[in-house]
Amino acid sequence: MFSGIARRYDLLNHVLSGNTDKRWRRKVRALLEDILAHENAVVLDVACGTGDLSIELKTNAKARVIGSDFCHPMLAVAREKTERIPWIEGDALAMPFGDESFNAVTIAFGLRNLANFRDGLVELRRILKPGGRLVVLEFSSPVVPGFRQAFNFYFTRVLPRIGGIVSGDRGAYEYLPDSVSKFPDQKALAALMRECGFDDVEYRNLTGGIAAIHTGLRSAAA
Ligand SMILES: C[S@@+](CC[C@H](N)C(=O)[O-])C[C@H]1O[C@@H](n2cnc3c(N)ncnc32)[C@H](O)[C@@H]1O
Repeated sequence: MFSGIARRYDLLNHVLSGNTDKRWRRKVRALLEDILAHENAVVLDVACGTGDLSIELKTNAKARVIGSDFCHPMLAVAREKTERIPWIEGDALAMPFGDESFNAVTIAFGLRNLANFRDGLVELRRILKPGGRLVVLEFSSPVVPGFRQAFNFYFTRVLPRIGGIVSGDRGAYEYLPDSVSKFPDQKALAALMRECGFDDVEYRNLTGGIAAIHTGLRSAAA
């Protein structure tokens, strides 16, 4: 599905979110500022797609940033944007990286697309160094009642039409709200992260809960 929409993916992200996606990615970077400032640190952006979060992370960073995704056409778009970042093809459920490799791992709008969220989180934890941090940016559940209804109307009725016209694949933009409806809400995702062995799990809502950022730690002791 992502192969088919790769060339229009960025444009649609910015149009459909009114550029809010850029602000959300900057918040992820802000949460990792301390790690990104270290030249010996290595940060992996999983399911990086066309690379916007990886590039945001690399901005002013001394740390090494790597992007990984299993969709070749999405990575091709990322590679056209910059070759300063290594773009590595790999499945998030069986990543081509050794245990305890990264100081931080990010996944933006990717976890929801995995065939099994729990297996994905276990795999993300495997490649984190003890003391390393996971940051998940994902669509979530709007928390303000009136706003929730208005957003759901936009998300399920308006967005698939615009997405379909611009990308030529309406199915991909019907899949988006459908997959979000099957994804755990803020509290359930936090609980799942704890079950998968993450400590100090916290989340913050973005734009009234349309999206959320969850963070978790792979404890040094575990
Ligand atoms: C909605 S896009 C998000 C891309 C990017 N992170 C962003 O914020 O724009 C989802 C990405 O997840 C990737 N993806 C889905 N399942 C995957 C898997 N099992 N392994 C690696 N990448 C996967 C897709 O190829 C796609 O590029």
